[in-house]
Amino acid sequence: MPTISISKNIQYVGVQHPDRKMFDCLMPTPHGTSYNSYFIRGSKKTALIDTVDPEFFDVYLAKLKNLGVDSIDYIVVLHTEQDHSGSLARLRGHFPGAQLVATSNVAKLMRTHMHIQEDAFLIMNEGEELDLGDHSLTFMKIPFAHWPDNTMVFDKESRILFSSDLFGSHYSFTRVFATDSYEIKAAALAYFAEIMMPFVPQVRKYAEKVAELSPRMIASAHGPVWNDPSLILKKYLEWTSDRVNKSVVIPYVSMHESTCLMVDRLTCRLASHGLSVICRNLGESPDSLSTEAGHVMSDLATAGAVIFAMPTVLGGPHPAGAYCALLSSALRPKTRFIGLVGSYGWGTKIAEVFDSLTPGFKKAERLPPLLVEGLPDEKDLEKLDTYADELAEKLLKL
Ligand code: FEO
Repeated sequence: MPTISISKNIQYVGVQHPDRKMFDCLMPTPHGTSYNSYFIRGSKKTALIDTVDPEFFDVYLAKLKNLGVDSIDYIVVLHTEQDHSGSLARLRGHFPGAQLVATSNVAKLMRTHMHIQEDAFLIMNEGEELDLGDHSLTFMKIPFAHWPDNTMVFDKESRILFSSDLFGSHYSFTRVFATDSYEIKAAALAYFAEIMMPFVPQVRKYAEKVAELSPRMIASAHGPVWNDPSLILKKYLEWTSDRVNKSVVIPYVSMHESTCLMVDRLTCRLASHGLSVICRNLGESPDSLSTEAGHVMSDLATAGAVIFAMPTVLGGPHPAGAYCALLSSALRPKTRFIGLVGSYGWGTKIAEVFDSLTPGFKKAERLPPLLVEGLPDEKDLEKLDTYADELAEKLLKL
């Protein structure tokens, strides 16, 4: 992708990674990702905002050289994580005169994670401005969006907000500006769920602050640039609110169809109440666990209830179900009801283990587990009808 101007004197110099399939060995990235970096040419000074994943350093350097960048006054580091600052050491070798600029939170983590000492940085405090001439960057700390060090900078002349990971998406692109396509919004939701959801109280405050700031553009560290910020701001205000949808997510795994029969019955009965039901089969193919668990994360950003359905294996939860439950809990979703259903062979401790895996569902009422020995019979399925009726009544009252 060539270098692109996103505004007068401001160029996108990031790189695309369309083939990336997973992030953090955890999150599926079906659309790849991008590592965004921006070059600002002020009338007095130049500044580079963030760098890129070290795997792409050579492409990145070539982009800067093609742009005619032979010196950089400031390299602004908004976040320590390696996908943004991993190229810094090599970049400094090519631009030895560049002054590193960051908040003290970034500088502290750079020492431990990148072995760059704190005294290498010009430290900026909250609200301080870095003057470039015709552009000036105001520093705003946004701790735990999603690391302690994340920082935004706002250029008041162009009214562009460089927001670090906040408002990002794992989405590799050929057109730099985001549209309101379903695909782009789905990528932003997945990113929010996996990266920002555990920190919703803080992220909500930041979204409100940005809405007040009313930037002309939001240039995040991943994914396309939001040149209509209302698209993403509206979504963040919705996702960080207490409101949930009248929907039920059912992540399930079934070895011999007994649990699957239970899921089918539960789904039909819940749907008969007008609820939206999303079933995610964690065990259909070798890739299902990571892919479907990834979808569950997005579902949990808005779903009112989640029912995990899984058989007992060696006395406890099937490992695929356990993985999804553990990951879901770590993201601390706002889901209001959590349940466990499933079949077991001859004895089970699944309920105790499941509870210990899911302490993060703090806002959720825990429904009594519904466990069936062997193949469910009609009486068992009728119990599922009652279970669904009771859940629907509660959910519809919200
Ligand atoms: Fe994209 Fe937290 O790094």
